[in-house]
Amino acid sequence: MDRIRIRGGRALSGSIDIGGAKNAALPLMAAGLLTDQRLTLTNLPALADIDTMATLLRQHGIAAEIDRAARTVSLGGAVTNTEAPYDLVRKMRASVLVLGPLVARVGEARVSLPGGCAIGTRPVDLHIKGLQALGAEITLDGGYIRAASKGRLRGGKVVFPFVSVGATENIMMAAALAEGETEILNAAREPEIQDLAACLGAMGAEVQGAGTDRIRIIGKAALGAATHPIIPDRIETGTYAVAAAITGGDILLRGARLDDLAAVARVLADAGVAMTAEAGGIRVRRANGALLGADAMTEPYPGFPTDMQAQFMALMCVADGASMVTETIFENRFMHVPELTRMGAHINVHGASAIIRGVPRLSGAPVMATDLRASVSLVLAGLAATGETIVNRVYHLDRGYERLEAKLAGCGADIERVGG
Ligand code: UD1
Repeated sequence: MDRIRIRGGRALSGSIDIGGAKNAALPLMAAGLLTDQRLTLTNLPALADIDTMATLLRQHGIAAEIDRAARTVSLGGAVTNTEAPYDLVRKMRASVLVLGPLVARVGEARVSLPGGCAIGTRPVDLHIKGLQALGAEITLDGGYIRAASKGRLRGGKVVFPFVSVGATENIMMAAALAEGETEILNAAREPEIQDLAACLGAMGAEVQGAGTDRIRIIGKAALGAATHPIIPDRIETGTYAVAAAITGGDILLRGARLDDLAAVARVLADAGVAMTAEAGGIRVRRANGALLGADAMTEPYPGFPTDMQAQFMALMCVADGASMVTETIFENRFMHVPELTRMGAHINVHGASAIIRGVPRLSGAPVMATDLRASVSLVLAGLAATGETIVNRVYHLDRGYERLEAKLAGCGADIERVGG
């Protein structure tokens, strides 16, 4: 199994190209199930999760042609199999995004329940209730969700008791082929939702209000061909922003959009880190050299993203003074804490909050993590640590970061992937 070896202590400088957003690309690819026409997505990142989604779509009968050089995927074709098997769903929870499109297009879907995952129980009850509100009949059987509809789904009112990105996306896609109007209240407002809305619009659905907590969709009997560019990855951007900050460096994040990162920029400003929009991207560096303790609480967009929590905590490990990080979206999303502690960090967890007391230096160690963002937080810590850090279980990183070690090495980091 590959590992990443880092010898820390170098200030990073240079520029990094930000890729297309994984969390936008996955629902956009699932939207390829909604039409037999060609849906082409551009700015496609090269990630393991994208390959998993392509495999899933292919086994549903959809052609999913990835052109790595052009960074595109072309989707389209008839649905010949409506089952999303356990082996794929278990590997990637976002597989559940095929549920809405399948039942909307062919009146039937059988999708494995994702089961437990490393960052908490993560149920799918909101996806199910939302589809029921559009007239789908849902049964749970043998670990699978079975959704059925005689004829087209019917538009309806879906009121979410709390914000779910995936459930909002599943219902938006189903509603795009439903008869009549669907209203989603307490909808997620993430930039990825707005990207999906733009794509569904380009395919012929009428979608209004994406980016607010009330989305209206008027479905069509059929959707057509479209070409859609995937938005830049705000979490990849935030991760490399922390890489610049933690090493006291200066990096231009090319292609990144500051508008999508307002909450991260605010918290980093509290910590003494400036993110400024420049022609072509965002420049990140410490404002006055010092790194200060600052607090962050994760919230649905436009709040501070849970997917940046572990990286921000790594940064606070070497800040002056104390900071508090509170996780409100997922239970059990502090798995990076014991590993950061092994590198010399001072962190106390009380329920959903962690108090971090900054230390002058972390020290390198062999570490591993059980999810994507926790893993990358250890890479960031390793960049600032003395000595050598080995991050095991690199396959987590490959799910969400394209050429991570090459991008960091390009800015002067001493980092390499080692096999075996
Ligand atoms: C998406 C992102 C993930 C990010 C998360 C929160 C993708 C592919 N993944 O995940 O990276 O961390 O948003 O920003 O876009 N919940 C329920 N019932 C449901 C659905 C969700 O209780 O039916 C709970 C979850 O357990 C969690 C919270 O709602 O506590 C938010 O989850 P959700 O927004 O649905 O996350 P995902 O869409 O899975």
